[in-house]
Amino acid sequence: MERTKIQVLYDASNAVFSQKELPSFKQIQWLKSILDVLEAVDVGIDEFSLHRPSIKGRICGQAVSEITYIHIHECDSFSIGVFCFPAGVTFPLHDHPGMTVLSKILYGSLYIKAYDWVKVDKSSCRINGLAGAVVDGMFNAPCEPSILFPRSGGNIHSLTALTPCAILDVLSPPYSEEMGRPSTYFSDFPIPSLPGYAILEEKDMPQDLVVAGAPYLGPPVDEATMLA
Ligand SMILES: [Fe+2]
Repeated sequence: MERTKIQVLYDASNAVFSQKELPSFKQIQWLKSILDVLEAVDVGIDEFSLHRPSIKGRICGQAVSEITYIHIHECDSFSIGVFCFPAGVTFPLHDHPGMTVLSKILYGSLYIKAYDWVKVDKSSCRINGLAGAVVDGMFNAPCEPSILFPRSGGNIHSLTALTPCAILDVLSPPYSEEMGRPSTYFSDFPIPSLPGYAILEEKDMPQDLVVAGAPYLGPPVDEATMLA
């Protein structure tokens, strides 16, 4: 039987992120190409339906009323999940410590702002919270998956939904307080005399940030499977 697209993504993520070595550029590009062909329907979301009930057994993307996380998989090496947003909601500026994140917008439009820390030479010393903007613009599905790395690609980002939208994320390794990979939130203060740069200040998780959970209704993912 042909594997589902989410199974192919799981198997490939497992092969790339469960290995001992860091993933190669080629492997990341391979994962990106797999993520690129995934659509909302492949993870059990009906992106078009305006009214409940949606097609039986699917999450109705247009009826999502708060930021909603659909958990698909998590192990020590990586996690796969989908964030659904209602229009107008912002997921505030946060980081992905030591993580590689591949993201595919499944439907809708988003405004994304992303920064990387400005480092002194190649050391890991930050300059007093100085960060450079690497992404500042609107993204509409369908578009290529984005990839952020521990030190590049916009590791610290905020997302504002311009329409109802959903993003499929593969995170490696996953967030873990225990393993020293918490999510930290920031305020950004642009520097008028230095366009494209801002000072980022850590802050507590915003009190108005609510992330609801929803069950995964897509095709089952066999976590015992073989190679990609
Ligand atoms: Fe994020």
